[in-house]
Amino acid sequence: MSTTDAGTRDIDEAGLVFVDAAAYADDERFHRACALLRREDPLHLVEHPDFPPFRAITRHADVHEIELHPQSFHNAPVPVLANREALAQQEAAGGLLRTLIHMDDADHKAHRALTVDWFKPRSLARLDDRLGELARRSVDRMAELDGECDFARDIAMQFPLHVILAILGLPESDYPRMLQLTQELFGAEDPELARGKDPADILQVLQDFVAYFNALTEDRRANPAGDLASTIANGRLGGTDDGEPMGIIETISYYIIVATAGHDTTSSAMAGGMQALVEHPDQLQRLQDGIADDPGLLDTAVDEIIRWVTPVKHFMRNATEPYELRGHRFEPGDWLLLSYPSANRDEEVFDDPFRFDVGRSPNPHLAFGFGAHYCLGAKLAKMEIKALLTELLPRLRSVELAGEPALSHATFVSGLKRLPLRYELR
Ligand code: HEM
Repeated sequence: MSTTDAGTRDIDEAGLVFVDAAAYADDERFHRACALLRREDPLHLVEHPDFPPFRAITRHADVHEIELHPQSFHNAPVPVLANREALAQQEAAGGLLRTLIHMDDADHKAHRALTVDWFKPRSLARLDDRLGELARRSVDRMAELDGECDFARDIAMQFPLHVILAILGLPESDYPRMLQLTQELFGAEDPELARGKDPADILQVLQDFVAYFNALTEDRRANPAGDLASTIANGRLGGTDDGEPMGIIETISYYIIVATAGHDTTSSAMAGGMQALVEHPDQLQRLQDGIADDPGLLDTAVDEIIRWVTPVKHFMRNATEPYELRGHRFEPGDWLLLSYPSANRDEEVFDDPFRFDVGRSPNPHLAFGFGAHYCLGAKLAKMEIKALLTELLPRLRSVELAGEPALSHATFVSGLKRLPLRYELR
């Protein structure tokens, strides 16, 4: 470790941001810590009594390299950071969840293959009109709210939920229940969003998901309906009708990952993107001016919004074999945290990384990960954000903050839980 500018104590303290849900709600503190770690100790060992020790990977090149070697770095057994108490509870509950992010190698490939076609550009193109309609509904809703809204709650949280639940094929009357369960799952560390204070409450949330999706599976097995839920309920591994049926835990887990991964992530990007545009009026103006004659600008803006916000804050990897990186030798059993927000502000890769630039190109951000587990919904998420901007920007005459934005306290998926805006629409 080099300690040229910073002492070991400062570096150790910086490393603790990764175990502190509140640190993710304080952008400045979080990014200051990551910049220090990238510079001084990019594979920093984080030690905190409540957590098993792990290495925080903060440079873009290293996150990228680790993602490119899925045999040396598995997602299983624990793909998301958890403290010792939560890990003990998960173990006692006996593997309630087994989603794509819990799997590796051939098993992962076989399960991913089941739905991958649903998320390819050709299938998604069929959604374009529906996205346009939902975007129009969102802007109409802003108009109804008469010049002031909480953009995070009133707009950004609703749109992606409607999209993903429509693809799954769930009835609209169930959307509020799904919204609540998703927020309780990702907001478990946030006092305003969590179901309760006891860590065991999260197991209750998961059990509610299981009960809901069990009923759905039975229904779609009896009455297949051509929706994504039917593909999952009747899914056979190996891509043929005589392939092995998916296990019940894997089936339920599949719904949960699709319903949750496609929701809070995209809504965080939408709300965070809106905040960035409000706080960078020159970039908002540039986008509004360019939307008619430079359609490519909207695409670069969507990617820049996703880089800027980076809604997924980390995934964990578990070393399976010795591996040399940057002069350090990882050993089997080592636990690694891939810090996507840090990688996406890496000054070695991005010109002036703290500048929000809607025309940034190239923009090799890692907000969707990379390699075998690359986000299944990346294309869908970008289409959703683009649809909303396409509808909103031409109608937006003026916009400003109407209060303090607030970020959720979460170490995994986090973003704005409040974004009060005052605006005039055309
Ligand atoms: C801006 C929005 C989104 C962001 C930032 C995001 C980010 C991510 C990241 C970082 C991963 C892990 C990649 C890795 O380990 O290399 C991931 C995986 C995944 N995402 Fe997304 N995601 C978003 C939207 C969506 C949407 C709309 C869906 C729709 C269903 C979705 C479904 C998934 C699934 C199923 C996985 C697991 C893939 C696997 O393990 O093979 N995501 N996402």
